[in-house]
Amino acid sequence: MHIDIITVLPELLHSPLHHSIMQRAQDKGLVNINTIALRDYGLGAYKQVDDYPYGGGGGMVMRLEPLAACMDDLMKKRSYDEIIYLTPDGETLNQSMANGLSLKHNLLLICGHYKGIDQRIRDVYVTKEISIGDYVLSGGELAACVLVDAVVRLIPGVLSDEMSALSDSFQDRLLAPPVYTRPEEWRGLKVPDVLLSGNDKLIAEWRLEQSIKRTKEKRPDLME
Ligand code: ADE
Repeated sequence: MHIDIITVLPELLHSPLHHSIMQRAQDKGLVNINTIALRDYGLGAYKQVDDYPYGGGGGMVMRLEPLAACMDDLMKKRSYDEIIYLTPDGETLNQSMANGLSLKHNLLLICGHYKGIDQRIRDVYVTKEISIGDYVLSGGELAACVLVDAVVRLIPGVLSDEMSALSDSFQDRLLAPPVYTRPEEWRGLKVPDVLLSGNDKLIAEWRLEQSIKRTKEKRPDLME
């Protein structure tokens, strides 16, 4: 997979995308993540990328010329399966969207700032608008990191079998069951006997039971 991310703050993306599983996925050649500094396409001596909104009101709007020039350049090199704008008024990200995106080959992400991007970019280029939740961040960068992480870990080969994404919460509309590791007993609290039984069938049954119980308690909406 190839992911291009357009941003005014490339530094903000660096650490989350270059550690742990995300870095290993890139080292293994399973994904290529490339950040593009929008400022390089900025206008005039000050490399301006934003301007006052028509109609007044507070805040600035990201101008369309730098974004359009940047995207036209990128689109000369590859065609994208999706051009995604991260925005609080987009469709809320969930596991099934992440599953779908993990099957794509080329993604282009646009991180907004200020009051957002000129509507005409959304009308002409953007194919999907995604929010990571009902709250407003200072920019789309953190949202882009969340989206990339959720998608990249699903690419076959990124996680080892033991870490399989299939047992994650939400994957089957159930939350994951409780997990335990050593020691067997701590402050009088014992690991459930079944997990020490060595009986794979009983363990699988117990985990499913616990998943259902936990989902009913914490997220009954998932089971509707
Ligand atoms: N940009 C600002 N807030 C956001 C959110 N909640 N989701 C995606 N992009 C955003």
